[in-house]
Amino acid sequence: MEFTDALLQWYDSHKRALPWRGAGDAYAVLVSEIMLQQTRAAAVIPYYGRFMTELPTVEALAACDEERLLKLWEGLGYYSRARNLKKCAQAVAEEYGGRFPRTAEQLQKLPGIGPYTAGAIASIAFGRPEPAVDGNVLRVMARLSEDDGNVTDQRVRDRWTAFLRGRMGDRPGDLNQAFMDLGSLVCLPKGPLCDSCPLASFCGARAHGTQALYPNRGEKKAKRQEDLTVFAVRSGDSFLIRRRPKTGLLSGLYELPNRQGHLSRTEIGEALTELGVRPLGAWEIVRRQHVFTHVIWSMQVVRLNAELVEVPGYAWYSGSEPVPEAFLKCLR
Ligand code: ADE
Repeated sequence: MEFTDALLQWYDSHKRALPWRGAGDAYAVLVSEIMLQQTRAAAVIPYYGRFMTELPTVEALAACDEERLLKLWEGLGYYSRARNLKKCAQAVAEEYGGRFPRTAEQLQKLPGIGPYTAGAIASIAFGRPEPAVDGNVLRVMARLSEDDGNVTDQRVRDRWTAFLRGRMGDRPGDLNQAFMDLGSLVCLPKGPLCDSCPLASFCGARAHGTQALYPNRGEKKAKRQEDLTVFAVRSGDSFLIRRRPKTGLLSGLYELPNRQGHLSRTEIGEALTELGVRPLGAWEIVRRQHVFTHVIWSMQVVRLNAELVEVPGYAWYSGSEPVPEAFLKCLR
C-alpha cells in the first residue's frame, strides 16, 4: 500500500467535521482557505459561518463595502487577506462572469491566490489532481522522508509539490485535506502522536526518533519590539477611537488613542490634556502585548472613564467600526 492510500483510509474514519467541507463550491473553498491560512480551524469556524451568511456569493463579496468587510474579519488578523479576497472576488465576477476558472494555473492568476490556494480550490472544488502544499504537508513529508531541506525555501516547497503532483490519485481534494487533518490532529509540530499515526510504518523520523528535528525551518528572525502607550478611554459601553492611516500596519482599521513609547505618569497627564480628555476618577495602568508578523507591540494601557463629549479627531465607538484585536485586548 502507498502512504497516500493509508492516509486516505485514515481520513475516511477520522476526518474533522468542518462547516466548509461538503459545500464543495469554489467560493466556499476560497473563503475558508484564505481564513485558514494563518488561523486555526477552531478559530475560523464562527467567522466562516458569519461571512457566508452575510456574503453568500462571489458577487456579494465583490460589491461589499470595505468597512463592512473588515468588520466581518475583525479579530481574525492579517487583514490584507480580507482585502485580497475581495479583489479576487471582483476579478472572478468581472473577468469570469462569477464562475471560478477550474485549473490551478488560471486560479493562480487571480489576486491573492498563490500555489497553495490554487491547489486547494482546484482539487477540493473541481477534483483536479493538484497538491496544496502548506505547513502541514511539509511537516508530514519532512518527517516521513527525514528530509532536512529548509521548508521556508521555495525550492523545497516546489520539490514537494512536484513529488506529490504525481501521487494525487483519484481523490485529490480528500488527499489534500487528509494531510491537513493529519497535521492538525496527529503529526503535531510539538509532541506528534505517532502511536495513532496511520503513516507510522512509512515514517523515517518515527523509526529513528528524530521527529523533533523536522521540519527544518531555518533560523527564525527575531521580531522588533515597539513600545506604545494606549489610552482606553471609556464612556459607558463606548470608547474613543479613530481610523488608522490608509497604509501600513492595520491600515484602515480603527485604533484607540496612542503614543509612541511608554510614557511616564506626568507625560500621560499631558497627553490626556492634549487629547482633550478629562478623566472621571483615577486611571489605572495595565500591560498588554500583541504579536504581529514582524513586530511585537509592548503596550502600556492607560484605562480611564470620561464624559461622552466630543473629542477633536476622535469618535466614540458605535459597534460597527472594525477594531483589531491588538486594541480590543486593551479594553479587557
Ligand atoms: N487548513 C487549511 N485548509 C484546511 C481545510 N480545508 N480543512 C482543514 N484545515 C485546513
